[in-house]
Amino acid sequence: MARQEPKERRCILKFEEVSLIFEEGHPILDRVSFEIWSGETRILLGAAGAGKTVMMKIALGLLRPTNGKVYVFGEDVTGFDERKWFDVRSYIGILFQEGGLFDSLTVEENVAYPLLNQARFMAGGKKPTAESVRPDVQEALNFVELGKTMSKFPSELSGGMRRRVGIARGSVTDPELFLYDSPTAGLDPITANTIITLLIKDRELRNTTTVIITHRFQDGNLLANFRYNPESEKLEKLPAGSPFLERTKFMVMQNGRLVFEGTEAELAISKDPYISKFSMHPATKVS
Ligand SMILES: Nc1ncnc2c1ncn2[C@@H]1O[C@H](COP(=O)(O)OP(=O)(O)OP(=O)(O)O)[C@@H](O)[C@H]1O
Ligand SMILES: [Mg+2]
Repeated sequence: MARQEPKERRCILKFEEVSLIFEEGHPILDRVSFEIWSGETRILLGAAGAGKTVMMKIALGLLRPTNGKVYVFGEDVTGFDERKWFDVRSYIGILFQEGGLFDSLTVEENVAYPLLNQARFMAGGKKPTAESVRPDVQEALNFVELGKTMSKFPSELSGGMRRRVGIARGSVTDPELFLYDSPTAGLDPITANTIITLLIKDRELRNTTTVIITHRFQDGNLLANFRYNPESEKLEKLPAGSPFLERTKFMVMQNGRLVFEGTEAELAISKDPYISKFSMHPATKVS
């Protein structure tokens, strides 16, 4: 099931001078530009209210930018109507900040939901059923080590388990792009590390382009410096000079502006008082 490394890397998500202004007032997003290429990981940092979730919602067509252009999988999606966005979204794994599981559905029904509602099946072909998608649902839940919880309801699970069900639901369609909004928020450090390990495993086994919003620098540090070894089934620290170190970049948002984009090493030497707050290397900083 591992996705082959594509021969040519392609641009998965691109913002071009994207601004968002609600009515009169200061911009919520102010001319944000970036490109994320296949197989890359982006860690999106920034204070509360800086515009991180808004950015993710624009990438999903849930909010429309006032100015600028958005490209998903190389296509200009800026003017897409809701039907076309529905199609685009079915190719993206999403974990919302609030979790977003359906409380009235079982774990199995929650994870099956994207498969049963995929635009690509609705357009024609055989409509999937709960039975036909069950093996995929089981596999996605096994991946997050919750294979035995199929018939439970979200209320019967812990916060960390609910987050993992959310990851299973997002990954069940094998998306090329996965957007995680604060997947470790409110979790203890051990559970948070388990979640990040799952993200690393997912990007390694499926070559998933990964965007993660987080307040924990530790999350970015793990994603930037470790890879998953399928043979040992463990995380391994990347050696100095590994080309994999370049695939993870950090972005810092401040009041709707993208004020930093670069590697962990570049973040560590930033002298900007706001940006350097998101780094874990105070010893290298000049105050
Ligand atoms: N639908 C909306 N209407 C008006 N303002 C909004 C809307 N959604 C978000 N905002 C405003 O946009 C700004 C950015 O919000 P956003 O949710 O992106 O912050 P964030 O960086 O995700 O913060 P946090 O770390 O707390 O999740 C905030 O000032 C928020 O009040
Ligand atoms: Mg947010």
